[in-house]
Amino acid sequence: MPIVLSPKTLLWMKAGLHLICIIPVLLLIVDVSTGRAGGDPVQYIIHFTGIGALNCLLATLLVSPMAKILKFAGLMKVRRLLGLYVFFYACLHLAAFISFDLLFDWSLFFDEVVSRPYILIGMINWLLLLALSITSLMSIRAKMGKQWQRLHNSIYLIALLTLWHFYWSIKSGGAEVAMYLAVILLLFLLREKSVQKKLIKVMN
Ligand code: HEM
Repeated sequence: MPIVLSPKTLLWMKAGLHLICIIPVLLLIVDVSTGRAGGDPVQYIIHFTGIGALNCLLATLLVSPMAKILKFAGLMKVRRLLGLYVFFYACLHLAAFISFDLLFDWSLFFDEVVSRPYILIGMINWLLLLALSITSLMSIRAKMGKQWQRLHNSIYLIALLTLWHFYWSIKSGGAEVAMYLAVILLLFLLREKSVQKKLIKVMN
């Protein structure tokens, strides 16, 4: 049986998601202002916001397969909200890097983009997220027709670029990146129609 979403439940779902996405930012502010952000607060903020963007990205990718498997089409109504939080965290991440790390030295920023491949990938990723956020407006979506879906399919590319950026940014190890890669591959698998059909069968 398909799950039907009433306007009131949708409102509560959206309010809950706003809280889930905003509370970590408030906790970050508390940590930094009370000296609980470790010996290098700038690195702490960059790490926290980068991981925040990645986690929101995973949640966004989960929405469409879950809507199909659970026969809960109403879930799709919260996908845009989650997608915009990916961009929100990516903006905080970029702002922390430019302000706290580079102290608004724009020539140094352009040097970093050109000379450090992982920063260049981060920048390309941010620009893609900017394009998706702007075109997520209903008025623009309607005008774009089929091109909209093609552009928004780049969310998969963004997920892989984020992992690449993450992997290149770390100095050692890679267990966390490997874990995220496994989750992303699982999410890609969940988008396969044959996998969805099997899961629907198991659940019925
Ligand atoms: C806009 C351009 C971007 C710049 C300049 C940038 C810069 C950085 C820097 C400086 C680091 C920390 C490297 C270190 O540990 O020394 C980092 C890590 C990271 N970034 Fe970005 N980034 C950008 C875009 C993005 C985007 C769009 C995402 C996600 C959608 C992202 C996700 C991450 C993640 C997950 C990490 C690893 C966190 C960690 O363990 O430190 N970044 N980035």
